[in-house]
Amino acid sequence: MSVISGWRPHPGQRAFLESRAPVRVLACGRRWGKTEVIAAEIARALLSDSPRQVLLVAPSHEQSMLGFERAVEFLNRAGARPALRRSPAPTLTLGDSKLWARSAARGGMFLRGRKAHLIIVDEAAYVPEPVITEVLTPMLADTGGKLALVSTPRGKNHFYRFYQQGQEDGVNIWSLRSPSWHNPLLSPTVLRMQASLMSARQFQVEYGAMFLDDAGQVFRTEWVDAALQRNLPDEGLIVAGVDWARRQDYTALAILRGSREGAKLLLIRRWQGLSWKEQLETVAGLLRLNQPVRVLCDRTGVGDPLLEALHEAGVPQAEGLVFTQSVKQNLIENLALMLEQGRLQLLPDSALLNELYHFEATPTERGARLQGAGGVHDDMVIALALAAWALPHTATGAIRTSGQKR
Ligand SMILES: Nc1ncnc2c1ncn2[C@@H]1O[C@H](COP(=O)(O)OP(=O)(O)OP(=O)(O)O)[C@@H](O)[C@H]1O
Ligand SMILES: [Mg+2]
Repeated sequence: MSVISGWRPHPGQRAFLESRAPVRVLACGRRWGKTEVIAAEIARALLSDSPRQVLLVAPSHEQSMLGFERAVEFLNRAGARPALRRSPAPTLTLGDSKLWARSAARGGMFLRGRKAHLIIVDEAAYVPEPVITEVLTPMLADTGGKLALVSTPRGKNHFYRFYQQGQEDGVNIWSLRSPSWHNPLLSPTVLRMQASLMSARQFQVEYGAMFLDDAGQVFRTEWVDAALQRNLPDEGLIVAGVDWARRQDYTALAILRGSREGAKLLLIRRWQGLSWKEQLETVAGLLRLNQPVRVLCDRTGVGDPLLEALHEAGVPQAEGLVFTQSVKQNLIENLALMLEQGRLQLLPDSALLNELYHFEATPTERGARLQGAGGVHDDMVIALALAAWALPHTATGAIRTSGQKR
């Protein structure tokens, strides 16, 4: 099949491109060539004789840009010279055809009010279900357009259910599951190295493209997905949690609003590779901006200097907490319980969703060891757990301080 001259799909990519089903679901491992096949599919649609409106959706703006730029490369290789606009949002025009690349953030508010002939969702397991079913699907109604969901699995959530429908139906919904090693261009050495960096279970999911849930998982996928769909009011006290980076970790910051009875995630970020000074300035800046009444920081291994520096940087309310096994257990249990009981509203940040999905409890002689499965970071989970711990118990309740030595 000559989609783009000089480009050859591998067999899995070819199967996806050849399917004529109105809905296609492609579940595959990392480095499989998802973004590549998405770009090829987009280029093919835009180069067809009839005018086509194509929408590329991803969990974040940055992610949608990756597919957009790859599609531009394909078009250029095919000799097409589209008109491009990258900001405020990526848009490409080629004759009467158009491509929009958009983030699924904020419940899909950047997506509304369009008609499309082709919608492709990259990392669809990380895009909240209502965005797909309530926002995107109706856009295809007038045009009889096609939908493609492409992703690495994230447990048995909506993406899994779409995949299963494809396995049962096969005509209206086509689906394929394919591990990373089906990409013949991926070197076995790279795969072996990745396998050595993560737990067996994580490798099965991220590279084996398996739909695994529950074994050792602390935060169930269904709780997390429900927490993305909640709509709590913007009221209550603002609190924050900070997990400082040690060695190659990320520094993470979470800001919540509300109480333990119901709280909403306002902000979650993580940064890697910053100096202590940069970490401090970045975190202090965001804290001064959001004015939390309470800030809990993990001071294990980083000690007092960072806390003092944070006080001097205009965040006098920051408190330090040393993570013993039982402190960590309490924090994580509180977070898990708030999620299970529907008392938390989350943001669909794909790094956070991946950390929550891979956070495991491993039984040890001294109780459960709680952490991101080998090779997975848990910095955002820890920051979120600290923020949740900092919440007042009731909406009207006063804030309790930890009573810990500062
Ligand atoms: N058919 C192909 N021909 C040539 N190179 C390919 C092909 N498919 C994938 N690649 C290359 O393989 C690598 C991985 O592809 P891609 O980035 O599309 O994978 P992905 O599944 O989106 O990865 P990630 O999980 O990191 O998002 C890239 O360097 C890409 O250029
Ligand atoms: Mg990709």
